[in-house]
Amino acid sequence: MTRAPGPKGNAVWGSLADFKADSLGFLASAVRDHGDIVRLRFGPVTAHLINRPEYVDHVLSRNGANYDKATRSARRIAATTGDSLLSANERAWQRHRRLIQPAFQPRCFDGIGPVIDDLLLPMLARWQRAGRVDIVAEMMQLVIATAIRVLFSSDVAPERISQPLEIILADTWRRIESAADASMLSPRFHRAEFTQAVAQIDAIVFDLISKRRAAAHRPDDVLTRLLAAHDGTKGEAQLSDKELRDAAITLLLAGHETTANAVAWAFIRTSGGGVQSDPALIFAEAIRLYPSIWVIERRAKRHDTIGSFEIPRGSSVLISPYLLHRHPDFWHEPEVFAPSRFVEGLPRPRDGYMPFGLGQHRCVGLHLANRIATHILERVFARFTLHLLPGQPLETIAGITLRHKAPVWMQVAPGTLTESGPATGGNQR
Ligand code: HEM
Repeated sequence: MTRAPGPKGNAVWGSLADFKADSLGFLASAVRDHGDIVRLRFGPVTAHLINRPEYVDHVLSRNGANYDKATRSARRIAATTGDSLLSANERAWQRHRRLIQPAFQPRCFDGIGPVIDDLLLPMLARWQRAGRVDIVAEMMQLVIATAIRVLFSSDVAPERISQPLEIILADTWRRIESAADASMLSPRFHRAEFTQAVAQIDAIVFDLISKRRAAAHRPDDVLTRLLAAHDGTKGEAQLSDKELRDAAITLLLAGHETTANAVAWAFIRTSGGGVQSDPALIFAEAIRLYPSIWVIERRAKRHDTIGSFEIPRGSSVLISPYLLHRHPDFWHEPEVFAPSRFVEGLPRPRDGYMPFGLGQHRCVGLHLANRIATHILERVFARFTLHLLPGQPLETIAGITLRHKAPVWMQVAPGTLTESGPATGGNQR
């Protein structure tokens, strides 16, 4: 059995500095230079980046029992979310998944249209008056406000949650991409902002939970479903307040930036009405080119072989939906934005498209994300054509999620550009 090829890197830190400088660019150059399985070293951690659908299927599904989430990134996330769906491993994860998944069935979100409209329609009226908008900021604001309503039926001011969440996400990513974290030695001094952000969110979430427990009439939302959730076993079958808090923060963290950035990309790439298609297909294509979760990590529990290369016990495996979705062996003209790829019945590489992951950890919020995204796209296309203002660099930052680096300004023009333009509802293919 042979070692996979890979960059040599620094004698002590391996490729850590290159990864920190430009994570996505580094991984892209690794597969370009070394092929579809690359051995990487980040300080003491050995990782293999795998970039073929059959390898991904092997790790996340077929031989998934050999790969768990006892990874560095999951441990860092757990510092914020506790033992939750995003960070827990094996049995603890199974319990959370059993309790939380039923609250995210597609039918749970059948009535979500009016909830979104309540926030979206006043926003669109404002857009009309403003004439130009920063589409990234607008989507962040709309999606967090929608998430707060759908999860908790609350109208707490969105920025009270989005601002601390942003601090938490940035701090967590900083600790994931660092080999050693000096700030952990003196958290009070170095991490005061993070600690304060967590305290702010905790205060809001615990208040929501206690009020809901005491309420005579509980609204039909995710929190009510989680309060009633039962894992079918004896003893501590229901979620405690601490577990509910962990779940609530997990869902906010996992659901808001991911969805908002992806919808913003859908508007940017359809700028000027040049690409017309079904909003669901437009969103599918947006998350092909800009998958919000751009890298996934697992740990090999036992020695394994992928392709003809060894995967040592205890090492990490990295999968990047971003790279896989642009793999020229599997996608025709991968850089071209073409929603028609997703017309039903057309061939697509099996497991080569995985914006929501694969296997048992597949995104629990995928139906919710799709519903929110397609509803927003439909409503906006029915009313406006958005034009990207010229001269703006469209750069991304690959942190915990794939984000826009800077505001993206779009001009808001009423109606259609062409006879069959987006204002007719955006349903033409
Ligand atoms: C466009 C939007 C979204 C994208 C691209 C996305 C992507 C993903 C991906 C790739 C995973 C798998 C990670 C892995 O295998 O380690 C995942 C897991 C997860 N997602 Fe999403 N997500 C989105 C929206 C949401 C929303 C709206 C929620 C909830 C409100 C959510 C909650 C979660 C949770 C809790 C997990 C962990 C599932 C588990 O390990 O059992 N996501 N997501």
